[in-house]
Amino acid sequence: MKILLVGSGGREHALGLGLHADPACTSLHVAPGNPGIAEFAQCHAIDISSNAEIVALAQEIEADLVVIGPETPLVNGVADDLRRLKIAVFGPSKAAAQLEGSKTFAKEVMSDAGVLTAQSFTCSTVQEYESALDTFGPPYVVKDDGLAGGKGVVVTLNREEALRHAIACGRVVIEEFLNGPEVSLFGISDGVSILAMQPAQDFKRAHDNDTGPNTGGMGAYSPLPWAPTEIIEETYTQVLAPMIAEMNARGTPFVGLLYAGLALTDHGSRVIEFNVRFGDPETQVLIPLLKTPLASLLFKAATGGLADTVLEWTDQSAVAVVLAADGYPGAPQNGSVISKIPNGENVKVFYAGISQSGESLIASGGRVLSVTGIGADLTEARDRAYRVISQISLPCSFYRSDIALNASVAEKGN
Ligand code: AMP
Ligand code: GLY
Repeated sequence: MKILLVGSGGREHALGLGLHADPACTSLHVAPGNPGIAEFAQCHAIDISSNAEIVALAQEIEADLVVIGPETPLVNGVADDLRRLKIAVFGPSKAAAQLEGSKTFAKEVMSDAGVLTAQSFTCSTVQEYESALDTFGPPYVVKDDGLAGGKGVVVTLNREEALRHAIACGRVVIEEFLNGPEVSLFGISDGVSILAMQPAQDFKRAHDNDTGPNTGGMGAYSPLPWAPTEIIEETYTQVLAPMIAEMNARGTPFVGLLYAGLALTDHGSRVIEFNVRFGDPETQVLIPLLKTPLASLLFKAATGGLADTVLEWTDQSAVAVVLAADGYPGAPQNGSVISKIPNGENVKVFYAGISQSGESLIASGGRVLSVTGIGADLTEARDRAYRVISQISLPCSFYRSDIALNASVAEKGN
């Protein structure tokens, strides 16, 4: 099977390795990819904001399967263009991608599907903002209604800051604050069936102890030793399956990866958000733990054949730590040379904002790379990830030192 994978981040590096490891994948092409992915796949420097360029490349390489990593091409409708040409695609249609593209749309579908989420108002005027903020009180949660690269949400005790963010965004969703640990739980769907993956936890804030601004994600780990054992089954019956059924009933079936971001509150779990693609950096911990061959799995999802599939996992743990350029999630300071990228046993380094300049690797994005450690438990996985990331020298960069720390301490207490 010839596969085209679209994207260039750590998530695509992890997905690419997973696809490449499946013997069913006879050739792997990535657009545009990065220097890490180029070590095992053929990279094509196209503009993935252009549906036409993606479609032309898929035709040129005679792709049997196209896997779309990031949300933008999905929201742009590239999956529809490919399906029109009878090319199998892992990724939702433009209509179904609105689950991530519009927070208001996601709330409507959840309401129709009976899926529990934060109460909210969609607002566009200062009067509406103020009334919604005062209805819920602090902490205030204000979300840009459209795509914002994981940076459109402000959670703050400061009413002025909440109001400023709403004014800067225009159309926003203002909602009830959900208190409780967050879990990312992904489902792989062929439009009818959905398979729940094991849960992961992401670290959204830029700095240790969950301080600093929200980012796309600074680290992740899986599995979650502290989470209730029924979380997968419950999320399947209460969230994933009803969403897939509702999207079907609307005539816009969801094929691809449905990402449920959950808050485990005192009143039970509530959906914080949906994404319509694999999470980054959760993918960098989930794919190394997944035993089910990835290329065949995603092909079955793309072609309606998931019904009898069961996901298999190793019993190991994985911890990913992101190295980001100073300034991220604002304007990152780029251009520094990454002196060396060490390898370690049971460690994988996934490239993200890295470009090649002659012999050198240069930081060229907000999140530069991530290091995943794999071990018998979280403590071992964490030690391996931190040992390697601490040896990477990149001026003007930072990483969190507390990824999976509390979970690994709790695990030892068990
Ligand atoms: P989102 O882009 O919707 O995932 O939001 C980014 C982050 O903001 C989430 O991972 C949470 O940490 C936080 N957040 C979003 N919505 C809420 C909420 N209703 N209550 C508490 N925290 C929230
Ligand atoms: N890690 C959060 C996301 O991928 O949106």
